[in-house]
Amino acid sequence: MSTLKGRNVLKLLDFTSEEIQYLLEEALKLKQNPLSNVLHGKTLAMIFEKSSTRTRVSFEVGMLQLGGHALALSSKELQLGRGETIADTARVLSRYVDAILLRTTDHNRVKELAEYATVPVINGLCDLYHPCQALADLLTIYELKGKFSGVKVVYVGDGNNVAHSLMVGCAKVGAHFTIAAPEGYEPNESILKQAKEIAGETGGKVELIHNPDEAVQDADIIYTDVWVSMGQEEETEARMKAFKPFQVNQSLLAKAKRDASFLHCLPAARGLEVTDEVMDGSQSAVFLQAENRLHAQKAILKEIMA
Ligand code: CP
Ligand code: NVA
Repeated sequence: MSTLKGRNVLKLLDFTSEEIQYLLEEALKLKQNPLSNVLHGKTLAMIFEKSSTRTRVSFEVGMLQLGGHALALSSKELQLGRGETIADTARVLSRYVDAILLRTTDHNRVKELAEYATVPVINGLCDLYHPCQALADLLTIYELKGKFSGVKVVYVGDGNNVAHSLMVGCAKVGAHFTIAAPEGYEPNESILKQAKEIAGETGGKVELIHNPDEAVQDADIIYTDVWVSMGQEEETEARMKAFKPFQVNQSLLAKAKRDASFLHCLPAARGLEVTDEVMDGSQSAVFLQAENRLHAQKAILKEIMA
């Protein structure tokens, strides 16, 4: 495997199965030995055009634990918010920092930042992908189930950024991924097609269906995300209606394997896509999953920056 040094992390589709497995192994090692100085003197600039708790804090703490430093910047405070271009921002920040993270709307903004930056760019969530989340999700699934092959991951809900990255991630590691989405809220066709092709090569399986009860049969993992993502607030009414039958509650969870685990990228809208009973129940691993953002992202930072 060639080195990951200098690589952008825009989407998991850009990484081979071997590279993803390597990052997961590295994450497990960092979880055992969290502190080092491998990024001594290195700085990560993080630009947030949307809210964040986990991404912001885990990257900042991760940089610190690796001996480096992170700057959390809101686009509103940057000149970016007053119209300075992404390209100019990329060229300027590249002269100060060693990597740039962007959380934004359109995937093209992350691509443009990467095109003009001379340092690695990390996608901290955009409308299409959330690769850092998916890497932490894979780490969590591996810790819970001890393998990927034959593990059935069922995502119930919106075919959104989190679903796309998880789907690609599961395909890359040879897991079985089923998404149950309402009509009109299916995942992006091109990403679904690519994920199916990858699964064909890794021994995994990717499928889309519309019935949540059917989807969760034999599930090892049940995963959901919010019905209304950041920036979709105007669609709230229509989404509430479409997603109502897709709530992860105790009755849906009971249709999965007895030892199935529940995952959610968080933040959760409790009482909507998931009930308190499931979120706080014995099968929920959502806080382990949130913790794993830190370990997985440290693996990324170490490999692309050190
Ligand atoms: N899951 C996730 O990305 O959380 P934040 O929006 O809090 O960063
Ligand atoms: N799909 C959600 C994920 C938040 C971490 C959103 O984009 O708002």
